[in-house]
Amino acid sequence: MNDPTSYQNLNKLMRIKIKKIVENYSTKFQWRNDGTDSLMDVGFGPGDITIDILLPLLPENFERLVGIDISSKMIEYARKQHQHPKVSFEQFDIGRKLEDQELNGIKPFDHITSFYVLHYNVHNLDIAFKNMWNLLKPAGDLCILHIAQSYAFQIYKRLYQKEKWARYMYDIDNNVSPHEDVEKQVEEFIGLLKVAGFSECEIKTHNEDYIRETNEYKAFYKSVNPFIYRIPEEDQDEYMEDFCREAIALGYNLDDVNSPNCRFNNRHVDFVIYAKK
Ligand SMILES: C[S@@+](CC[C@H](N)C(=O)[O-])C[C@H]1O[C@@H](n2cnc3c(N)ncnc32)[C@H](O)[C@@H]1O
Repeated sequence: MNDPTSYQNLNKLMRIKIKKIVENYSTKFQWRNDGTDSLMDVGFGPGDITIDILLPLLPENFERLVGIDISSKMIEYARKQHQHPKVSFEQFDIGRKLEDQELNGIKPFDHITSFYVLHYNVHNLDIAFKNMWNLLKPAGDLCILHIAQSYAFQIYKRLYQKEKWARYMYDIDNNVSPHEDVEKQVEEFIGLLKVAGFSECEIKTHNEDYIRETNEYKAFYKSVNPFIYRIPEEDQDEYMEDFCREAIALGYNLDDVNSPNCRFNNRHVDFVIYAKK
């Protein structure tokens, strides 16, 4: 993801879902008695959710709120947009071992959140969970929203079959879930969380329909597409046209495709994961 402005303008549906989850789960969080909580938001993107949803949740005398993201564009954007004395945005890859990267002053937190990030890292989940465990204080907790299945993953698999796009999508396996079987995925996640060291973990599955009209659909899936930045700019529109063609071939359109307002559905199976150190 390299376009924070487009994503922020198009993520309204995700914001509503994340707000609901955060409000629900905040009652479970292990809040400190003295209110000096610290929180790290992994993969903050444009930073609007970190600032508009997570910051108001923290006690008045919270210690710090740190967003981390792998993308330098996101860091640059969030630092410009959101300035607050106790909030910082740092570059960090949650899928790479702590000892192999600069910590940029990151030290353990009371809480970690991460929304719609881990599906870009399905091969490195063991490292990601171990990093989260290491970056939590004793009795710290974790709340994650993860896309376990998505219609978009089916479309990526079909685009990868095309010679023109395959070379840009060489790491598709790190960007789509490994199993179609959701129960198997739940088991795998619980196993990985336990191996990482988490003592209590719970996963709830939600089915979610994200419905958008053609232009918004194309713009949104361009903004979150993990491969598009490798495609020459002059071919990107064709790639997104192909994305829509495959969506139609799979029956993800809800209206006649000739209608200018034709809507597309992107159905997800989401995991809401809560774990304690
Ligand atoms: C779909 S956006 C979600 C942004 C925000 N959490 C939200 O829900 O609006 C995913 C973000 O995760 C970041 N990301 C992907 N892989 C990452 C990694 N290994 N470490 C840290 N951030 C990562 C991307 O750069 C992007 O900003």
